Amino acid sequence: MRILMAASEAYPFFKTGGLADVVSSLSRALNELGHEVWLFVPYYRKLYEAKADRLPRLEQSGLTLEIPMSSRLVKAELLWTRLPQSDVTVMMIDQPEYYGRNSLYQEEGGDYEDNCARFCFFNRAVMEIARKLILRPDIIHVNDWQTGLIPALLDIEYRQHPAFRETGSVMTIHNLAFQGRFWHWDMLQTGLDWKYFNWEQMESFGQLNLLKTGIVFANKITTVSPTYAREIQTEKFGHGLEGVLKNRSGDLLGILNGIDERDWNPAIDPSLVSNYDLQTVMPGKAANKAELQSRLGLREDPSALLFGMVSRITDQKGFDLITARADEFLKENIQMIFLGQGDPFFENKLRDLQNQYPDRVSVTIGFDEELAHLIEAGSDAYFMPSKFEPCGLNQMYSLKYGTLPIVHQVGGLADSVRDASPANIEAGTATGFVMPEYTEKSLCEQVERAVKLYKDRAMWYRLVQTAMTRPFSWKRSAEKYLSVYRAAREPFIS
Ligand code: ADP
Ligand code: GLC
Repeated sequence: MRILMAASEAYPFFKTGGLADVVSSLSRALNELGHEVWLFVPYYRKLYEAKADRLPRLEQSGLTLEIPMSSRLVKAELLWTRLPQSDVTVMMIDQPEYYGRNSLYQEEGGDYEDNCARFCFFNRAVMEIARKLILRPDIIHVNDWQTGLIPALLDIEYRQHPAFRETGSVMTIHNLAFQGRFWHWDMLQTGLDWKYFNWEQMESFGQLNLLKTGIVFANKITTVSPTYAREIQTEKFGHGLEGVLKNRSGDLLGILNGIDERDWNPAIDPSLVSNYDLQTVMPGKAANKAELQSRLGLREDPSALLFGMVSRITDQKGFDLITARADEFLKENIQMIFLGQGDPFFENKLRDLQNQYPDRVSVTIGFDEELAHLIEAGSDAYFMPSKFEPCGLNQMYSLKYGTLPIVHQVGGLADSVRDASPANIEAGTATGFVMPEYTEKSLCEQVERAVKLYKDRAMWYRLVQTAMTRPFSWKRSAEKYLSVYRAAREPFIS
């Protein structure tokens, strides 16, 4: 198949969260199964330049386009390169005014005011480039609201063009909490007729909604775990779009993300001070733990139960529960390491905690890919008590690195972690600690269980071994995407 993948971020170029990892690893997995993939992203020049020495070189394509944006023409240039270790072509759309900023979506806690225009432009540029270069995609796969306009453009403006006559579209929802909602006048940025601004298509509660647009116009919809696919059709998890999703329930499928073992594998990970596998996990983790403790100024105590957490700092991820009860946890011989950035309220709460327990709590505010890997390797346990979690990659990375996660039983967390209940331990399937409810009490109970189990090292290492062998291969998930692709384009094949 000829697959056009579009997203607002892609590892290793531009990343704020799991979306970047998924878009790149899925593209590589599809490519390995013998398919042709073009991955389109905006060219965030400053972010690229900041680490250009570690990234593939970009080539000028020489292609320049003028995209109509409300009342003016805006220039787009195309750069291209390869995704490392693959034959995936990465197409970057250069538009300095829109993407030459310090960040992807926001600065100083506030979204860029012209985000609607920035991404509508990106969506139009993707379609125009595909048309100009006659890519003839069999599938256009879009991800999250930043690419939600594309399925509508395909249907309304491009379908009759020979390059798109047999093209199906698939939309993947990575997080329903972000919908790309804008005031109604932003409809002008989409370039589509006002007649589409109605409650069955692009409008939602009086606003323009780009995620809803994608959901409504895409031929098939996926999300990133089977449990989340069910949850988002309910009021509790639907963020107001449950009705729209229920309407399309027959076209909606949950496919669990995987782990890209080229990037996340303790046996070859260059960020670790000691690589390890199933046989060498005990000394391997001990060495990485000692390194973490000394690098981050924690007490060098091999027997402390070390919890790690690497995360966007938002309301979603359970920082309210952790910060409310941390004092209690720290009565035990526990240490905690946090790496993340985001909501200043929780950043400050974490800093306070670090000030209070300087040799047992470490807080790094920022984005640090290398430290993220070392934390996964050197920690014993991992916090991921998210309020909701579409899939979650960090709990899977934790399992792969033999770090037992505490998770809330929602979304992809429920689909990937097995609770250390006596029955599961007996059956040899236990891999972590599962909170049945999102409450402080439930989190405390899991921390207590972890502390208790950690005292029985033989048992703990049995769980570690089970965790490390859990299969989260991208190949299997990519095959599921392929069957969704086939179904999506079926109606258009002549
Ligand atoms: P989400 O996409 O909701 O943020 P995921 O668990 O799916 O959550 O993916 C998060 C990804 O982003 C992981 O690869 C994680 O290691 C990475 N990440 C998040 N915050 C940071 C940070 N501050 N530094 C380095 N990596 C981070
Ligand atoms: C989103 C979700 C996360 C998921 C990731 C990749 O950011 O919050 O749960 O793993 O997308 O699909």
